[in-house]
Amino acid sequence: MSEVSIIGLGPMGSALARALLANGKRVTVWNRTGANAEPLVREGTVLAPSAASAIEASPVTIICVANYETSYKILDTKETVSALAGRMLVQLSTGTPQQARDNETWAHKRGADYLDGAIAATPSQMGRPDTTIFTSGSNTAFRKSEPFLKDLAGNVLYLGEQVGSASAYDLAFLANLFGSMFGFVHAARILESEGLRVDSFGSMMADIAPIMGEINKHNGQVMQSGMYENPESTMKTCANTGELFVQQAREAQINSEFPVFAQGLFRKAMAAGYGDEEFGALIKVLRENA
Ligand SMILES: NC(=O)c1ccc[n+]([C@@H]2O[C@H](COP(=O)([O-])OP(=O)(O)OC[C@H]3O[C@@H](n4cnc5c(N)ncnc54)[C@H](OP(=O)(O)O)[C@@H]3O)[C@@H](O)[C@H]2O)c1
Repeated sequence: MSEVSIIGLGPMGSALARALLANGKRVTVWNRTGANAEPLVREGTVLAPSAASAIEASPVTIICVANYETSYKILDTKETVSALAGRMLVQLSTGTPQQARDNETWAHKRGADYLDGAIAATPSQMGRPDTTIFTSGSNTAFRKSEPFLKDLAGNVLYLGEQVGSASAYDLAFLANLFGSMFGFVHAARILESEGLRVDSFGSMMADIAPIMGEINKHNGQVMQSGMYENPESTMKTCANTGELFVQQAREAQINSEFPVFAQGLFRKAMAAGYGDEEFGALIKVLRENA
């Protein structure tokens, strides 16, 4: 009998299996394309002949595939449903809060415990003390899964019984990350246009990451409280910078899609009269334009 099964051996599922093996767990795996399992079998996992057999092999199954639709394709068969009854399913594929709610209902109807989770890291970052996994759902399900999740990430955050919370935090994390990544690619074009190096800029940004974190923390407090007065940086100051991005793109003849997008939001905030308020007042523009 294994302690834990992994369904899905893409880059992330394989990293999860390796992190569990590294922590001495007995692991069974299954993947649609069997070839992906070969290196893991050499490293010590057991390859199940079917998804249903993988679930039967352990009390806890972690699924990490492309999305929730794929997960249903794998799990919603007569054999797998029968295997799931009385067992624990941990969903670590990326999805939306509504998909998490639907999946919890689906699992409970089939007699399985369910925990929803989301990984805020890349495969090579798994198993580190600072790696984060968001989880939500029944507290009992969390406690049953925690010993395995702790092998995957040092920072396992349980966000409570509201099962959609892990996906909501994950999508919020990804919105923040992707906003920053779009900004980073534009930043690279600014530097390239002046003949400067992008790699040293990336290192510099990593070194000053706590400063960026403090700015997010401040704006989170501002938006939560609705107190936009006494700003650290007024909307007007930020909007002027937005205009400079567009001007620099024009002067250097580089792509201006990111600056024009930012300029559009700043102009709406200024037109709405938020010029003397904190940058976080931009949320009022987004609320009005739902
Ligand atoms: N990679 C990252 O940096 C990262 C970070 C955080 C979260 N995640 C999440 O982790 C999950 C897995 O990501 P990944 O990076 O491993 O790669 P992925 O390409 O998103 O998923 C690959 C996995 O999905 C399976 N799959 C895809 N279509 C399928 C189908 N029609 N039927 C059965 N299985 C199917 C693949 O099986 P085959 O091998 O047979 O194709 C493989 O096991 C995703 O939800 C992703 O958003 C990834």
